[in-house]
Amino acid sequence: MDPHILVVGGAGYIGAHMVKLLGESGYVPVVLDNLSNGRRAAVPAGELVVGELGDPGMLDALLQLFRFEAVMHFAGYIQVGESVAHPGRYYDNNVGNTVLLLRAMVRHGIKRFVFSSSAAIFGNPEYVPIDETHPKAPINPYGRSKWMVEQILEDFDHAHGLHSCCLRYFNAAGADPDGQLGECHEPETHLIPMVLQAASGRRAAMTVYGKDYPTPDGTCIRDYIHVSDLAVAHLLALRALLDSGPSRRYNLGNGAGYSNLEVIAAAQRVTGRAIRHNFGPRREGDPPRLVADAALAKAELGWRPAYPELDTIVEHAWRWEQRFFGAMPVP
Ligand code: UFG
Repeated sequence: MDPHILVVGGAGYIGAHMVKLLGESGYVPVVLDNLSNGRRAAVPAGELVVGELGDPGMLDALLQLFRFEAVMHFAGYIQVGESVAHPGRYYDNNVGNTVLLLRAMVRHGIKRFVFSSSAAIFGNPEYVPIDETHPKAPINPYGRSKWMVEQILEDFDHAHGLHSCCLRYFNAAGADPDGQLGECHEPETHLIPMVLQAASGRRAAMTVYGKDYPTPDGTCIRDYIHVSDLAVAHLLALRALLDSGPSRRYNLGNGAGYSNLEVIAAAQRVTGRAIRHNFGPRREGDPPRLVADAALAKAELGWRPAYPELDTIVEHAWRWEQRFFGAMPVP
């Protein structure tokens, strides 16, 4: 029987790309999602169980029903600004519910866990590119919630032999190259979808947050990683755990930083459309420059990004934007 993998949050943006890859790679994904941010239609393979992670009775029933080899956990809240305004929500969901999930895994003897962590655990970096040994100093509740879970996972490994792999994403972007899946947050806050909404006419213009950062053009620099490359890294991490590997932590990015204005320029090249933008104040909690050193994931997991170029990432996102939302008249 093919191994069953529980994908918590598998109806969301990154989770759905993972579910698709698992289905194509000889695994049986079972998705648990409360559909608060995910979409039923986004689940491309396996079964969907609609339920709350914070419900231990439901978790027991689910883990009893299937014999899961591992759990992959994508069901975190992701908005930095919201986490500053409503920290309780972030600690409840990102930390509290994750602990409930881990405790259920211990009750049912499931010992492998792949966790969606974030570059936000590093806070304002002391140096770039950021490797795994960089000090962890998150500057908002979102980042703190991810770093807390990473530390909790060390304790669960020590106490229960629960092995985990924490993957610290830099800026996940792009869309399934087959055009089946893409990014659809409500509300949307991420740069590339916002820029493409301005290109398609769904948004009259977009605002660049801050132009006085200590970077060459004054706008923030980020390291964009294709969502399908991210899914591949998870698959490799899962296999390493299933091969009885120890707990690990990896930073995942392409090691190349692009400023917000460079992203707009890339989107203009790819779409052939002018992108109206204006400048607003800095957004609270935005570090000037985040770039990953992913050498460890490459060396230990053999991870090789297939789509490292920013233009390819934007092109796939643009294809999805046009297909999913339909081409709208240019204003
Ligand atoms: N930006 C704009 N205008 C917008 C949206 C974004 O100028 O309308 C800017 C942001 O200020 C930032 C850059 O574009 O400088 C990238 O912003 P995103 O919101 O796309 O991504 P972030 O870097 O803020 O966040 C991402 C993840 C978070 C995670 C963080 C870790 O989405 O979950 O990386 O550093 F916490």
